[in-house]
Amino acid sequence: MRLDRYLARSGRYSRSEARKIIQQGRVRVNFLEIHNPGYHLKPGDRVEVDGEVLAYEAHVYLMLNKPAGLVSSTTGEDSVLTLLPDEFRRRGVFPAGRLDRDTEGLLLLTNDGQLAQRLLHPKRQVPREYLVTLDAPLSPEQLGRLLEGLTLRDGHRARFEAVDPTGLPRNYRVVLREGRYHEVKRLFAAAGRRVIYLKRVAFGPLRLDPDLPPGRWRPLTAEELQALRRALGLAASTPR
Ligand code: URA
Repeated sequence: MRLDRYLARSGRYSRSEARKIIQQGRVRVNFLEIHNPGYHLKPGDRVEVDGEVLAYEAHVYLMLNKPAGLVSSTTGEDSVLTLLPDEFRRRGVFPAGRLDRDTEGLLLLTNDGQLAQRLLHPKRQVPREYLVTLDAPLSPEQLGRLLEGLTLRDGHRARFEAVDPTGLPRNYRVVLREGRYHEVKRLFAAAGRRVIYLKRVAFGPLRLDPDLPPGRWRPLTAEELQALRRALGLAASTPR
């Protein structure tokens, strides 16, 4: 990785600040002053800024309770990244998967491309759990069709793995093992119902922290990260 990129990914400096401090001679690699921002670092290189070793975790994993009104993009004034300190944007954090603008709930934000790819890969069929409020209750016949499978408008066959009433009128907990565009809404539409509220509460082994109000985030705990890595067939510890 380029030296200026490495410094920027630490989250402490923007790319242009990183270039400046390198050119000012404040950065040493393996005890040698380096003035070239494009200097290529090898794994294990020791990087110091102003005499202090720059140590940071290569990857960031954050749980966000996405509020309605923001989009799962990395740019724009209405991006979910606007909820995070700038440091994370510099470190290349992005949402692992999408929730619609009006959907709330669990969103994993990370800069670990390999983990995100595994989480989202259709082959892995990672379960997603949602709470939904519908325009009207489901009939037993509609419930049966949603579990058996329905053909969506684009010709794709889809089904819920579980549809359970929560006890509140018109409210259900549903589980789906894929993440196609608007899939929860399209499945209910195919059964003749409209989703009027949607919240994701679990994704694989991750469950939305009930103490996290909409718009708030926190890093994953070590246990959550281990469970996630295990579920995705990744080695137990985070590579540095
Ligand atoms: N399905 C939807 O329809 N919308 C979401 O945001 C997520 C799943």
